[in-house]
Amino acid sequence: MSKKLINQVAIVTGASSGIGAGVAKSLAAEGAIVVVNYPVAANKDAAEAVVTEISTKGGRAISIQCDVSKEADVQQMFASTVAEFGTVDILVNNAGIQKDSPFETMTLDQWNLVMGINLTGLFLCAREAVKEFLRRGIDPAKSKAAGKIICMSSVHEVIPWAGHANYAASKGGMMLLMKSLSQEFAHKKIRINSICPGAIQTPINRSAWETPEALESLLTLIPYKRIGQPEDIGNAAVWLASDDSDYINGISLFVDGGMTLYPGFTTNG
Ligand code: BGC
Repeated sequence: MSKKLINQVAIVTGASSGIGAGVAKSLAAEGAIVVVNYPVAANKDAAEAVVTEISTKGGRAISIQCDVSKEADVQQMFASTVAEFGTVDILVNNAGIQKDSPFETMTLDQWNLVMGINLTGLFLCAREAVKEFLRRGIDPAKSKAAGKIICMSSVHEVIPWAGHANYAASKGGMMLLMKSLSQEFAHKKIRINSICPGAIQTPINRSAWETPEALESLLTLIPYKRIGQPEDIGNAAVWLASDDSDYINGISLFVDGGMTLYPGFTTNG
């Protein structure tokens, strides 16, 4: 079977660990040239490990440091990518953090940090991506679309989350930013969609799966009765980035084992 993303240049933000690393590997396995973005110098080795794994399997990748909440950093990352590979075809806006706190003691720093990376980061990265897609237009040798953006949202764009108000607000905001952009640029053949992961086994939610008791409690929220893996999200990202989903625009694709099915109502209500 031929690879689905041959020679398409993909920037994956926050790709030194977790879901981002999984998505970077899945895109590379389908022939994409991947920019493995990482936020600070401390993540460089982890990002390089992702690059090495991709290269070992015959793929192409480089790592670029960039804090997605900083305008100049983001512009530099896109400029470096275009200088190195000629263009950008796919943006996976994945970088995201949690700074959880009861609301009454949540600091402005906790609020701003989460909004800065999760929501402003999407604004800044999507703006640069759209500019490049509009400049280049469609390259029929690569794709039917002029460019694809995949926003890494969450089940918490629809499920309220006590103790995580900043995070849930950022994901709710992502949802309408994504839909507004897809409405604005559909006629330019730019496709913009979100993936909404449920509980995926990564460092961000370690406390929810690291003990058998925590995992058992988590599984009561997942009708499919297993925790997700980064490749579950990687597979969805490949589909949304490829022409297999060419008529899909402005959707939130929930990849959550049924977490959004109100499992509490299975035996109640
Ligand atoms: C959060 C995880 C959480 C999952 C399901 C994700 O968006 O980052 O910490 O386990 O949603 O609640």
